[in-house]
Amino acid sequence: MDFAYRLTLLFSIAAFVGTADAENPGLVVRVTQKGLDYALQEGVIALQQQLSHIQLKDISGTYGLGFLGHANYKFFSMNLGNVQLPGFQVSPIPNVGLKLSTSGGFFEVNGRWDVRYSFIHEDGTFNLKVGGLGMSIGLNLRNIEHGKPTVSVADCSCRIANVEVHMSGTIGWLVELFHGAVESEIRKELENKICPEVNKFINSDVSSFLRNQPVNKKIDHISGLDYSLMGPPSVMANWVDVFVKGKFYGMSHIHHPPIFAPPLTPPAMSLPPEQDHMVYFAVSDYVFNTALLTYQRAGALVLTLTDNMIPKKFGIHLDTNLLQRVIPSVSKMYPNMPMKLEMSAASTPALNINPGGVTLSPVGNIQAYAILPNSSLAPLFLLQAKTNAFAKVAVNSGNVVLSLENGNVEVSLSHSDVGPFSVSEINKLMNLFVPVVLPHVNDFLRNGFPLTFIEHIQLRDIVIKTYEHYLLFGANVHYH
Ligand SMILES: *[C@@H]1O[C@H](CO)[C@@H](O)[C@H](O)[C@H]1NC(C)=O
Repeated sequence: MDFAYRLTLLFSIAAFVGTADAENPGLVVRVTQKGLDYALQEGVIALQQQLSHIQLKDISGTYGLGFLGHANYKFFSMNLGNVQLPGFQVSPIPNVGLKLSTSGGFFEVNGRWDVRYSFIHEDGTFNLKVGGLGMSIGLNLRNIEHGKPTVSVADCSCRIANVEVHMSGTIGWLVELFHGAVESEIRKELENKICPEVNKFINSDVSSFLRNQPVNKKIDHISGLDYSLMGPPSVMANWVDVFVKGKFYGMSHIHHPPIFAPPLTPPAMSLPPEQDHMVYFAVSDYVFNTALLTYQRAGALVLTLTDNMIPKKFGIHLDTNLLQRVIPSVSKMYPNMPMKLEMSAASTPALNINPGGVTLSPVGNIQAYAILPNSSLAPLFLLQAKTNAFAKVAVNSGNVVLSLENGNVEVSLSHSDVGPFSVSEINKLMNLFVPVVLPHVNDFLRNGFPLTFIEHIQLRDIVIKTYEHYLLFGANVHYH
């Protein structure tokens, strides 16, 4: 199971590209040779364990002793131990999958022997040292099933270069006679057992592990992220690319009124040939934009600002006194009353990634109210606000997190319930609230979404670069 888990690193780390579909992936995961080497190193540990579980059947036979007649022998209670597979290598087989090979494996077989010849009955233990174990395993990665990667053994071969047996026993000459039989019989048995064991392991354990990976990951009560593969991994000479859908979907079955949104299409991404890290995740702006659309549809892109949300250090109070100079009529109609600002996205905010950075251009509505002594709301005015905010990108605990930086808001008047007033003065006023609102927005963004849905994987040494329409995250993987 462990090997299955570890091998999955190869395929599921995050996203994979290269699809026959017309549609581009939202997310591409590239596993470099370094990543394959790391996954192999982890996987070999599990493979060693798996091979040590090989059951050898008892071997019995007859050995001719010339004019002395025949001796019957038996080898039984055989166990494999100390399986070591050093020097295992993994290399991509373009368009097919991966080739795993070693020529320096070794292990031991411990067991018992028993010989009957005439009235002589002799038994003892033996220790067989197997060296120069050569294995070559071809893995086929060309198929996917329900959006999940699959792996199968395309070919397997195994060869044992040398065996050396030590037998305990009191009748030395008899024991000596059976050396050859032990060595050749057990070697043959082992060579017949190893590939079926590898097959069993990959075809059942690893495959069922992959089948059990959820490719739809719940993010919160509002959204989930679809990590389905869009096609088989693309195996190139230096890396394996996995093409992932990378689309957010709504969790709720409640139907909100449809909102106008232009159709979102994933951009084409052509990854730079970097290989310094084990894995690269190319996350397109499409992924973020499907998230924004999902949250807007769920009515989650709203924020109500009230006076108690304004930290003291800002020295401003959200009440009608604030409007004394700009809209004198308000402080006359609603003297000294608290106010509230209801902010909501007017359309789906568009996130744009380009080499210069990440920008978000939300257009919002701001409805201002005076709160009357009996708690009724008196509408004052409705503004439309535009901003072009720069976003910082970070990875926290494996999650991609955006945070917006201070930007200027530009408002225009949509409707006034309190007569005409100077929009430019209101604009100045509204900009005072930007640093108040921003932490709330960033708090909302704080959880982000995971680069990979596989558990027990930690990403380290992360580097982030921006390209046209996508972010590229380079990382080393640590399995724990
Ligand atoms: C609250 O007070 C306002 C003005 O005094 C009045 O017009 C309104 O009907 C009141 N609302 C309620 C729910 O009592």
